[in-house]
Amino acid sequence: MQKSTKIYIAGHNGMVGNAIWRTLTSKGYTNLLGVSSKELDLKNQQAVKDFFAIEKPEVVIDAAAKVGGILANNNFPYQFLMENMQIQNNLIDAALQSSVEKFIFLGSSCIYPKLAPQPLKEEYLLTDSLEPTNEWYAIAKITGVKACQAIRNQFGKDYVSLMPTNLYGTHDNFDLNSSHVLPAMMRKFHEAKENNNAAVTLWGSGTPMREFLFVDDMAEAVVFALENKLPEYLYNVGTGEDLTIKQLAETIQKITGYQGEIIWDSSKPDGTPRKLMDISKMQALGWKHQVQLEEGIQKTYTWFIENIENVKEIKL
Ligand SMILES: NC(=O)c1ccc[n+]([C@@H]2O[C@H](COP(=O)([O-])OP(=O)(O)OC[C@H]3O[C@@H](n4cnc5c(N)ncnc54)[C@H](OP(=O)(O)O)[C@@H]3O)[C@@H](O)[C@H]2O)c1
Repeated sequence: MQKSTKIYIAGHNGMVGNAIWRTLTSKGYTNLLGVSSKELDLKNQQAVKDFFAIEKPEVVIDAAAKVGGILANNNFPYQFLMENMQIQNNLIDAALQSSVEKFIFLGSSCIYPKLAPQPLKEEYLLTDSLEPTNEWYAIAKITGVKACQAIRNQFGKDYVSLMPTNLYGTHDNFDLNSSHVLPAMMRKFHEAKENNNAAVTLWGSGTPMREFLFVDDMAEAVVFALENKLPEYLYNVGTGEDLTIKQLAETIQKITGYQGEIIWDSSKPDGTPRKLMDISKMQALGWKHQVQLEEGIQKTYTWFIENIENVKEIKL
């Protein structure tokens, strides 16, 4: 890959897109392209076609999506299904029509069946039913994976899908109604500490097991896929290690310095009991994460405090 290759990062203002942009810049890539959703609504097929015709990107990284936690997915199933399909369909088809040779599609570990054996291997895709709380989002993502696979099979182009585990880090969404578990907990503990609250209530039982990857490591995985032609259509990206939500809460509690009590609200849904990625395919090719969980949470908390007035709050 030439450092002057024109690389379009769709969703470059998002948590993942931002990390990809920073990582590529730090590695000397000089021809990056990014536009906000205000300038280009990726749901608008004609606008996306026109954009590709004018800009002629050589490589496309799709980090644009409508993203959210259990509550958001439950409340807005249609938007999670339809907007994600529109965004990715418009990008993938415009890339194919304008002869883009390399396309990196980002999905999510929720594409795998709810009760699939752990750790989740790529070949478990479409072998059983999905977790109902986020099946809308998952089905959209599965169609994106399949579109890229079809292009790969039919046209021989290097269109590849990366399935990240749960990501966290700088530029995350910290809105309590739409955020993922880790930033939501961080905000709750921080505010409880600031307000001297005696207890913090967290969702669920605390028993589900989850895996978390620092977003800068995810960006490194994308660069790895950019700089190497990966032989298969689908790769998991994670740490290969998980912990209970309770252990996660205790880690964040320690880092934020909150000294009160944690109350678990078991009336709220837990989601999938365990979600750990099998990352042996990416590891066999030579990629491995670098940032350990405590270090990543500390970096995220430092960034959160420094940017507290301006942290992203996605309202649904
Ligand atoms: N966060 C995670 O834990 C996680 C885990 C697994 C996979 N992923 C995947 O990683 C990718 C990026 O996630 P993220 O966490 O970075 O999400 P994010 O912070 O919400 O960023 C998503 C970006 O998509 C853009 N976007 C959304 N709708 C758009 C539209 N209609 N037109 C143009 N742009 C639009 C937004 O652009 P503007 O800012 O300009 O509005 C935003 O910057 C997604 O595919 C997601 O599925 C994320």
